Amino acid sequence: MSRPRVYVTRRLPQPALDIIRPIADFTLWDREDVPPSRQVLLREVTQVDGLLSLLTDRIDGEVMDAAPRLRVVSNFAVGFDNIDIPAATQRRIVVTNTPEVLTETVADFAFCLMLAAARRLVEGDRYARDGKWKTWEPLLLAGQDMYRATLGLIGLGRIGSAVARRAKGFEMRVMYYDPFRREDLEQSLQIEYRPFTDVLRQADFISVHVPLSEQTRHLIGRDQFSMMKPTAVFVNTSRGPVVDQQALAEALAARRIFAAGIDVFEREPVPTDDPLLAQGNAIVAPHIASASIPTRIRMATLAAENLVAVLQGKRPPNPVNPEVLKG
Ligand code: GLV
Repeated sequence: MSRPRVYVTRRLPQPALDIIRPIADFTLWDREDVPPSRQVLLREVTQVDGLLSLLTDRIDGEVMDAAPRLRVVSNFAVGFDNIDIPAATQRRIVVTNTPEVLTETVADFAFCLMLAAARRLVEGDRYARDGKWKTWEPLLLAGQDMYRATLGLIGLGRIGSAVARRAKGFEMRVMYYDPFRREDLEQSLQIEYRPFTDVLRQADFISVHVPLSEQTRHLIGRDQFSMMKPTAVFVNTSRGPVVDQQALAEALAARRIFAAGIDVFEREPVPTDDPLLAQGNAIVAPHIASASIPTRIRMATLAAENLVAVLQGKRPPNPVNPEVLKG
């Protein structure tokens, strides 16, 4: 039998390529700064058995139809909203993702954004560099306390739970909303379930940890920001379209909330003239919540392991549509 062929949509860390090389012949999109264009993607997949994709690649029915031999799409991300899962399942293509390995790194970053936004760290950095710092002042760049504040988590999956664990070290009261109530975690983490609007109204810090789906698109918009405390700090490390970005920019401009820390955007890269970027009380980051060196290497190797497992006829560690593997 001939060796399987694979297309990898970005240059990956070497350990990941070392996992693929003994099993398959692969072509690599060899640029780091841009993803392959749609045209290139459609051309490159025509003969492949496997595709290793990034969240910047839209993998839909058209791509799958252009790749009649395709058996696996291995996404280098925990989120897989860039892939049409029903279309893959219908064509018996296995889709995999990279959960677990990034949980703690993303939770660290959500915490980092909460602290930095509450304590105005980026404003302070700019202030000092711009030569504006003349003297110590009683209320210079005064922010909000995180210690013993109330944290509201929207979504209590792996990452939400990891943020809750960190919050306990800050003696925070933690409440969460999730469509799936987790009484086991309420006990073990000492956290409280609250209806969605109660979390928005009562929390000092709100951090979003839900996947993007038709149910969560614009889950947080104008009405939701208007329910939050004027002292609230809002953080999003999930997916941009979960939040109505225009409504967020307006809430920050009108000081309806205190500050925000945002890692994900409705359009990425976020256009530099986006109103959100004009708000001094917003900290923005270029979708880097999972970007520690060890975690990105683990994500790449896990994506390679998932890919190779399916190509070898084995069960991959992280199938998203496991029903394809049956029978
Ligand atoms: C990154 O955003 C991921 O989904 O892993």
